[in-house]
Amino acid sequence: MEDSNANKNDNNGEEEGRWSLKGKTALVTGGSKGIGYATVEELAGLGAKVYTCSRNEKELQECLAIWRNKGFKVEGYVCDLLLRTERENLMRAVGDVFNGKLNILVNNAGVVIHKESKDFTAEDHNIVMGTNFDAGFHLSQLAYPLLKASENGNVIFLSSIAGFSALPSVSLYCASKGAINQMTKSLACEWAKDNIRVNAVAPGVIMTPLIETAIKRQQLTQARILLIRAHRLIFLDEPRTCSRGQRFYLLL
Ligand SMILES: NC(=O)c1ccc[n+]([C@@H]2O[C@H](COP(=O)([O-])OP(=O)(O)OC[C@H]3O[C@@H](n4cnc5c(N)ncnc54)[C@H](OP(=O)(O)O)[C@@H]3O)[C@@H](O)[C@H]2O)c1
Repeated sequence: MEDSNANKNDNNGEEEGRWSLKGKTALVTGGSKGIGYATVEELAGLGAKVYTCSRNEKELQECLAIWRNKGFKVEGYVCDLLLRTERENLMRAVGDVFNGKLNILVNNAGVVIHKESKDFTAEDHNIVMGTNFDAGFHLSQLAYPLLKASENGNVIFLSSIAGFSALPSVSLYCASKGAINQMTKSLACEWAKDNIRVNAVAPGVIMTPLIETAIKRQQLTQARILLIRAHRLIFLDEPRTCSRGQRFYLLL
């Protein structure tokens, strides 16, 4: 695999002091591409031990080889987060590797299906809501004892501006991200007493395989134009910008 998201960090290796995650443990879902890949590099570059997952074993193994070459402490697990049993197996593996303590959970894995609302099938609904919302919520529940045991837990959900603004052809995606926004606030209230902080980042357009595929299939053009006209919010950025934003939440 081409190292397209090559680490452009100026901190190859671990940063010390205020900007260090040395000794911390992290699970980043969907780390083989895009924002997840950049997040793994960000956290591992700051010294954290990172666990990640994705469905495609070959891609995941290629990523792990790149990270090991860079000296990062990253392990990976092949699983489909759509399935409850696979989420449970993943969290069991994380608990074993990190001795029952997890400092950081980044619920990053997500998918988008572009269709007119009237054309969405029950399967589309299950895939989008299951991957984007159900998996993040369930993983957070499963991670709760590990986050609490760490005495300094952090959960970050990947929301989107689509969770705040109306976009055509991605109504299920927008709904899944809107649900994440509300869930983030509720969990933050419930878990603050356990020293677990819960936040969400809501990026605009970040150039990742998710967006590249949509552009290739000419699924994004109309949405982009409408959004630019309506809100002037959209920007094309690279995954690293997003992972830097997450660093801010983790090191506050
Ligand atoms: N890119 C943007 O412009 C943008 C903007 C706002 C929010 N976001 C959000 O940011 C997150 C990451 O987006 P991205 O653009 O980086 O996406 P991406 O390039 O498509 O990468 C998604 C990652 O998630 C994994 N994944 C997807 N479904 C999975 C499943 N069922 N089980 C396990 N792993 C799964 C993928 O690997 P496999 O395919 O091998 O499973 C891949 O590693 C998503 O939640 C997305 O909604 C993205």
